Amino acid sequence: MRVGVFDSGLGGLTVVKAISETFKGAEIFYIADTMFAPYGEKTKEQILQHSLDLTNYLIEEHSIDALIVACNTATSAAISELRRMFPHLIVIGTEPGIKPAIELSKSGNIGVLATPATLKGSKYQSLVDKLFSKKEVKLFEQACPGLVEQIENGHIKEEKTILMLQHWLKDMLSNNVDTIVLGCTHYPLVSETIKDIMGSEINLIETGFAIAKRLENLSKEKGHINIGPLKINVYFTGEINLKMVDSILDNWIDGGKIKVRNRYE
Ligand code: DGL
Repeated sequence: MRVGVFDSGLGGLTVVKAISETFKGAEIFYIADTMFAPYGEKTKEQILQHSLDLTNYLIEEHSIDALIVACNTATSAAISELRRMFPHLIVIGTEPGIKPAIELSKSGNIGVLATPATLKGSKYQSLVDKLFSKKEVKLFEQACPGLVEQIENGHIKEEKTILMLQHWLKDMLSNNVDTIVLGCTHYPLVSETIKDIMGSEINLIETGFAIAKRLENLSKEKGHINIGPLKINVYFTGEINLKMVDSILDNWIDGGKIKVRNRYE
């Protein structure tokens, strides 16, 4: 099984990390589209175009059988089109884990941290409408512009990052929010800071393990046998903080800078 995965940067590696804990006998081709990061502050059309370019690249250069959009923002902008254009591929997207949050929360007060584009998207809105018609819960939504850049630069524990999070979490803290949905694959990388602010009892919902399970099930249906080594290649379109890559994944074997657009020039 050859699996393509993409995100705007380091965030999708949190999904690859979860996959690498249980998925075997496959090769992963990860692209961090850092030249165009952050996605969360771009238009839907721009994000869609990049998602199509990256998918075509993964098909042409690496003959992938499965595609994981390890990005909430790109899933919101492009997943329907990707499924329509590449019906032969297993296509798995990433959505904010609101459903597990509703199941887990005791106070019924739930926070959602995501990029501005994800929160504005109709996909997120319909997910919320569907789930919230079923249960009485209160939602505290917070867009976090600038947080992805801090993470990409490796400024995980810097004062500026802590101050940003303190500001965004203030309302949640004073309203007894007990569960926070990390609606961007970058945000698990600042989990510790979120816990420092909200208290260690806070439930943080991330989606990497659910995606890994989905990949296992869908690939099994296509005859994949889950044994043998998993090879991970990490490619990037712009600059990337390799120290951060190493701190998230210690077992990647190959990769480097690639040209996705205009690559035939
Ligand atoms: N990691 C992405 C997400 O899950 C995108 C972040 C960004 O580039 O803004 O939404």
